[in-house]
Amino acid sequence: MSKDKILITGANGQLGRVLATELRKVHGKENVLATDISTTDILNNSPYEFLDIMNVMRLEEIVDEHQITQIYHMAAILSASGEWNPMKTWKVNFDGHLSILEIAEKFQIEKVFFPSTIAVFGTTTPRENTPQHVPLMPSTVYGISKSTGELWSNYYHDRYGTDIRSVRYPGIIGYQSLPSGGTTDYAVEIYHAAIKGEEYECFLAEDTRLPMMYMSDAIRATIELMQVDKENINIRTSYNLSAMSFTPGEITESIRKFIPDFKIKYKPDHRQDIAASWTESIDDSMARRDWGWKEEYDLDAMTEDMIKNLRLQFDS
Ligand code: SER
Repeated sequence: MSKDKILITGANGQLGRVLATELRKVHGKENVLATDISTTDILNNSPYEFLDIMNVMRLEEIVDEHQITQIYHMAAILSASGEWNPMKTWKVNFDGHLSILEIAEKFQIEKVFFPSTIAVFGTTTPRENTPQHVPLMPSTVYGISKSTGELWSNYYHDRYGTDIRSVRYPGIIGYQSLPSGGTTDYAVEIYHAAIKGEEYECFLAEDTRLPMMYMSDAIRATIELMQVDKENINIRTSYNLSAMSFTPGEITESIRKFIPDFKIKYKPDHRQDIAASWTESIDDSMARRDWGWKEEYDLDAMTEDMIKNLRLQFDS
């Protein structure tokens, strides 16, 4: 069995819980410690510990007690909810990340994963086929904290040799979990409404194109990046990562191939401005070149799998 001892922060989150499940398959259940700012282990599948990422002392104790060798630092406040409390979001997203970097250096952690995001892009970034190296002018505190985090990751790698790896996730869609507080959340909510036979009120406009990815591709990308030889990794800020791009109108058409009478109405809110500041599609050729990234799901393949799995959940 694996000699790696893995810590996941934010393990109850949209990605964290799916990642914890997959990592337990790879490394063995007892070698993957899930933590979150909740006394409830959502997976109900120990080992699990309560951890507030702001509590650096407790974070250190956990790393020490469990002899952690790898960290997946998933704890963060997302783009839309981050705007309600910018200072708290900065502290959780940025100070939390800096604590992880410090601890990685102090405890000689072998590998760290840091999730970045398309929210690092801004209105000065080319909107189509966005290259890896572009001006980052994020408009949300979430984007600011993640783009600054990318720079500090690169600094720790260059200065201390910290083996930190990262991708800029697009919007992630999965049947396993609901997102919370993000601008791309509509693309998960819409499937839940469709399955329940409800009309969906979309908070983005019909033609708002954003980069997106199916959960299984996102988790596979994460694990593949963490498994590749470190000599192959040339980007220590964060890799562009892409699978598909679509609008609310296009995902609606895809759902109607399976649920023809599905109805949607559009009522854009404050999240429309956030979405409009991001890019539409991503050039991820460096991830493809350096560690062989390739997505499996396009929009229709994702829709088919989402509907199949959500139906199973709702029927059981
Ligand atoms: N899904 C995230 C959000 O919408 C983007 O990384 O905030």
